Amino acid sequence: MTTDLAREITAQSADDSSPVVLEATGMTRRFGGLVAVNDVSFRVNDGEVFGLIGPNGAGKTTLFNLMTGLIQPTSGHLHYRGADITTLRPHQIAARGIARTFQNIRLFGNLSALENVMIAQHVHTHSGVLAGVLGLPPAPAESRATRKKALELLDLVGMADRAEAKAVNFAYGDQRRLEIARALALEPRVLLLDEPAAGMNPNEKQALSGFIRSVRESFNLTVLLIEHHVPLVMGLCDRIAVLNFGKLIALGPPHAVQENPAVIEAYLGDAG
Ligand SMILES: Nc1ncnc2c1ncn2[C@@H]1O[C@H](COP(=O)(O)OP(=O)(O)O)[C@@H](O)[C@H]1O
Ligand SMILES: [Mg+2]
Repeated sequence: MTTDLAREITAQSADDSSPVVLEATGMTRRFGGLVAVNDVSFRVNDGEVFGLIGPNGAGKTTLFNLMTGLIQPTSGHLHYRGADITTLRPHQIAARGIARTFQNIRLFGNLSALENVMIAQHVHTHSGVLAGVLGLPPAPAESRATRKKALELLDLVGMADRAEAKAVNFAYGDQRRLEIARALALEPRVLLLDEPAAGMNPNEKQALSGFIRSVRESFNLTVLLIEHHVPLVMGLCDRIAVLNFGKLIALGPPHAVQENPAVIEAYLGDAG
């Protein structure tokens, strides 16, 4: 126990050289009598891949929803690069550079991959994008630039050859990568991925790790990753936070978290 704690403290102080990007302080969210997120505090450092794991219902997605303004905390604060963003709306948080994907994929199924990415850019452009997709006359220069950038993003996620195909026809793995392209269209500094490997086949899961790494490097991102696939989390994350029944029960480098008795118990409890 003492050794674990010492290791964790060492790991945390070693990270003090990079600036803190996101800081959650006492974040709590109740749904009626249920405390979905319970007094959770942590810091995410610039450039880090920060994992968030825990059994189903632990509060992981709720924490992402809090961090992206979809829901408001019952109490607690969220700071982004020193600024209090606790009460900002989702579009305001996106405009500041925090983008996300969803556990339940949110794409426009009947629109093409290209159109899906173009729409996602609207935070950074004007009404032209939506107008263009809806067949209304867009501002030509803006539309061309938007289209060019969308194609670049599709190329980056390996889908440029299917730019005109409808999103609904893509396999799960491709839909998840298209969602990431949409998130990247916001030109984020921080990317929150909610179970990006869900529904992927083993090959896709294996490729995902390298993909996330390359995206992080190309875009100079800080990444927060909710994921059940343990090898992916262990191989990719610099630090891992573990939630159980809404509470943060462990935080540290992968090996320390993996050996943490409270973490082992939480997962065995979930399986049993
Ligand atoms: N909008 C909501 N209304 C009521 N309960 C919710 C809502 N969102 C999440 N919950 C509950 O909060 C708990 C945590 O859910 P969630 O954050 O989705 O867990 P995880 O992503 O870790 O599986 C669950 O018990 C879930 O049913
Ligand atoms: Mg979830």
